[in-house]
Amino acid sequence: MSTFTIHDFLKKKKDGKKITMLTAYDYPFARIVDEAGIDAILVGDSLGMVVQGLENTLPVTMDEMIYHAKMVSRAVKNAMVIGDMPFMSYQAGIDDALRNAGRFLKEAGAAAIKMEGGAEIVNHIRAMTKSDIPVMAHIGLTPQSIHRMGGYKVQGRTEEAANKLIEEAHMAEDAGAFSLILEAIPLNLAKKISEELSIPTIGIGAGPYCDGQVLVLHDVIGLFDRFVPKFVKRYSYVKEDVLKAIMTYRDEIEQGVFPSEEQSFK
Ligand code: KIV
Repeated sequence: MSTFTIHDFLKKKKDGKKITMLTAYDYPFARIVDEAGIDAILVGDSLGMVVQGLENTLPVTMDEMIYHAKMVSRAVKNAMVIGDMPFMSYQAGIDDALRNAGRFLKEAGAAAIKMEGGAEIVNHIRAMTKSDIPVMAHIGLTPQSIHRMGGYKVQGRTEEAANKLIEEAHMAEDAGAFSLILEAIPLNLAKKISEELSIPTIGIGAGPYCDGQVLVLHDVIGLFDRFVPKFVKRYSYVKEDVLKAIMTYRDEIEQGVFPSEEQSFK
């Protein structure tokens, strides 16, 4: 069970300390992320793209999310595990949403859930909070709304759109969310929201003034190269390293170098 809790989220904001968050989807990577001292691991539905090879996150199912969240929880000692509610696991109604969110805590060892959406999910947040399911809300670019938004576009650029996001941020806080993801919005809008809210904001493509940051692990380590959003910073090039290793393995088999006596039994 994780040691970092929703109370630590709030305390870090109060103390002016940044919250660190990263996605992970399986046991080996979750162990590494946890060992690195990251505060929270999001089992994001981004796994649809970076693990399952899908075009977008819409086809990801609740059962798939539970499968991945279980692997992550098994690996983690300190980080807080947050399960991401996939498309249509909560949009059809609050009962559905409660049952699915509850599965993350009951079956998969998560300590909280994340849900995309603004005004339309305020009652969901309220119901979950009442049922002791901590909620991280997510506004701005919400990838499950890709068809309505017409693509992965920066949100909140007009005054009207910015004001709507500010209003929705307050609604999420008032409904009981313990934290709020701000995705792909201008940095000054993220700053304003972060200053106005008492719950911490976690930015992804929302600039440096958020109370914490999250990115997709496979982007950060250079494991996913189908496309790289502008807001991503790469800290390693794992794909290249793995490719080199596998090509060397192939070459050594073909050249009779592997296995040698060292890897053989006598
Ligand atoms: O699915 C996901 O990984 C996310 C984060 C990138 C915020 O929603």
